[in-house]
Amino acid sequence: MRAVGREVDWKALRIEVLETFTPGPPINEVAEFAGRKAIIQRLQDIAIEKARHAIIFGERGVGKTSLANIFYKDLNSATRMVRDIAVDADSLDSFDSIWRKVFRRIRWPADNATLDNYYPGPIEPDHVFLELSKFGQNEAPIIIIDEYDRISDETCRVLMTDLIKALARAPNNPTLILVGVADNILQLVRDHGSIHRNLVQIPMDRMTSDEIKDVISTRVRHLRMKITDDALWRVAYFSAGLPFYAHSLGKYSALRAVEVEKLQIDEALVLSSLIDCIADVDYTIAESYTRATEKIYRKGNIFAQVLAACALTENNDLGQFTAAAVEGPLSEIMGEPYEVSAFSFHLNQMTNPERGSVLRKTGARRTFQYHFAEPAMQPFIIMKSLEDGVLRPDVFERFYVKRQKSFSI
Ligand SMILES: Nc1ncnc2c1ncn2[C@@H]1O[C@H](COP(=O)(O)OP(=O)(O)OP(=O)(O)O)[C@@H](O)[C@H]1O
Ligand SMILES: [Mg+2]
Repeated sequence: MRAVGREVDWKALRIEVLETFTPGPPINEVAEFAGRKAIIQRLQDIAIEKARHAIIFGERGVGKTSLANIFYKDLNSATRMVRDIAVDADSLDSFDSIWRKVFRRIRWPADNATLDNYYPGPIEPDHVFLELSKFGQNEAPIIIIDEYDRISDETCRVLMTDLIKALARAPNNPTLILVGVADNILQLVRDHGSIHRNLVQIPMDRMTSDEIKDVISTRVRHLRMKITDDALWRVAYFSAGLPFYAHSLGKYSALRAVEVEKLQIDEALVLSSLIDCIADVDYTIAESYTRATEKIYRKGNIFAQVLAACALTENNDLGQFTAAAVEGPLSEIMGEPYEVSAFSFHLNQMTNPERGSVLRKTGARRTFQYHFAEPAMQPFIIMKSLEDGVLRPDVFERFYVKRQKSFSI
């Protein structure tokens, strides 16, 4: 028991905070996983249906691995035993090496060694078919191949399509789950048309603001702490649907609360945790930001301001915005009107590697759309710009209130 009477053991609570929020590692327990109910149900159905497999794809960091880790956990029953095997693909993998990783994790009861030992030559789709067919009728083998986007070997992708076709003949019910970063399935699967009924597409969007709030509030409750509604809004806003930020902000604002011996997290504590959250972000994000905004020959420039304006700009479902839409926020940031002609150069430069390739440009002349190359960039820019004073709190508040209104509650 942490609390003795009304005394709180702050040291113990601090440790609990560190254990509770997990910016970084994927979730492994159903109880720790927020939202995504419909997708979980769909994946469970696929695991039960015969000859059905799934490919989970979406932006970096939306929670794909976590979902693949937990969706099957409550499928175990008296008549069904889940046999889960998860492996990560890497850029050098071939069909043989991927399945060798899986085979290293399987040993049939009558055998002395793991399966890979029985395949001195290259593993082919038919070998996989035959081995997976050996699982019992009361078993639900679920093979998860994560980081599937990293495979560069075209033959591997073709053979994987062949395997999925072949598995339709399996006498039992093995399920293959492929997971990768992609905007659409064509980036990951060859000849998808031929297996579209067997390989179900599971596109994964960012989390809703309610789901992000759920990530935070369940953890705060677990810690027997409280968080104000305003503070919860802040975390949801800064996270922009990316659970990493929710964990990071939750962790640091709770740690700050513990530091000042408070059991309630308020807006001020969330704002004071931004600096720690910024430091927590992937090095490559911070590095690209520095590149994008750096001064050349010590000459002042407005790259940081343009980037902050982009991060504040309203965007469509795909995160895209036009140059014209940046005018409003940039003019507010600069304190004087700025038209597209004054910053289109900056937008273009930031699509180049010399400026960290932070932006991508799509579409044709006059209808160009921009979006952040890395989804994690936008929340980072807002937090960093506030910390560095590029974005004044009053300007931020005006856009914050606007965005908050458009959030679905
Ligand atoms: N539903 C969820 N509830 C709570 N936390 C989550 C949830 N989904 C993901 N997270 C957290 O978000 C972070 C990113 O999750 P995860 O690694 O699963 O994403 P990913 O899409 O696989 O990322 P990547 O594209 O880098 O492989 C982790 O800190 C994880 O703990
Ligand atoms: Mg992952």
